[in-house]
Amino acid sequence: MKDISIDSSSQDGGGGPIHDETLVRVGLCGPAYQASHLAQRETDEKTKEVVKYVLAEAEEFRTLSELRRKGWESSDGDKAFQEQRKRADNLDKDVSEFNYKLMGRIAEELHRVTGAFAMPPRPCGVLDLCAAPGGFLNTAMRLNPGCRAVGFSLDPAEGGYSNLLSPFRRRCMKFLDVTMLAADMGVADDDIPADHPDAAKFLPRQLAEADAFDLVLCDGHILRTQDRSAGRDASPNSKNYRDLYELYRLKYVQLALGLEHLRPGGTLVVLLHKAETWTTLCTVRRLARISRQVRLHKPRVSHTTRSSFYLVAQGVDSAHPEAAAAVAKWKAV
Ligand SMILES: C[S@@+](CC[C@H](N)C(=O)[O-])C[C@H]1O[C@@H](n2cnc3c(N)ncnc32)[C@H](O)[C@@H]1O
Repeated sequence: MKDISIDSSSQDGGGGPIHDETLVRVGLCGPAYQASHLAQRETDEKTKEVVKYVLAEAEEFRTLSELRRKGWESSDGDKAFQEQRKRADNLDKDVSEFNYKLMGRIAEELHRVTGAFAMPPRPCGVLDLCAAPGGFLNTAMRLNPGCRAVGFSLDPAEGGYSNLLSPFRRRCMKFLDVTMLAADMGVADDDIPADHPDAAKFLPRQLAEADAFDLVLCDGHILRTQDRSAGRDASPNSKNYRDLYELYRLKYVQLALGLEHLRPGGTLVVLLHKAETWTTLCTVRRLARISRQVRLHKPRVSHTTRSSFYLVAQGVDSAHPEAAAAVAKWKAV
């Protein structure tokens, strides 16, 4: 199986091989894995400690590790993931319809198990930071008639998914690249160097400072269909800042703006990967410290062969100083 960096962000270059028996043994990466930058090597070391602990303590994790490692060695695994990637990259109408319905079923399952999509009586509101095709937003609006809804999502013209919400509901969605929400993230125009490769793409404020929502959905994942090549030169191994850091940019812009605009006591739903990795655990811990309840749910209707799962944080005290500290930290990433 083709090797990738531990969190599926950038593929290679930078760090050199880390010959890491532990991470290879539990199937977190293949034998040719390379950490792409120094910070990643540091988090790999911490992940290794977590993995050693869980291996010693949990039979289920030992079984999972064995299965994952076999996956790395199997060409059938390669084929299955290739098929999965092809489906994810296919933006035609039938696939979009299928994905829209699937997202609706995931939302229903999440709601059945955790009550995630329940909101207080009106006036209440939902913010979805990566919303298309719209299955989550549709479920939130159906379960909470008359709620305010705001959704952002990458423009289909830039490789994003289409908006499949019904004509009644579709106007709540705005197409934009959330990783370009510089003003919302507190970056002043003057702080953006004129020669930055994406200088012209950064966006003015989209959410007012006082905008607050009862439910915030952070379900974005990086799309291979998006062109993020600005600033890369022509050499075959050339990488730009987005090749290296897009995973973190997308994750932390959703977390930072999501928590900042969550009404105290509200609910945050976040897509995460690989519960045993250090960066994921840090996110879970940060949210657990300020929430009445945090649950991790792996849907049965999808995500079954992937490392992804949802975190549902309820009763989040978004006004707590630790929440402000988390927002500041995530904005600074
Ligand atoms: C799994 S889909 C979300 C599905 C959605 N929760 C639903 O219920 O239909 C991931 C979404 O992330 C969006 N996305 C990926 N990168 C983005 C970016 N940089 N800015 C905005 N949206 C982005 C994609 O366009 C896609 O709509």
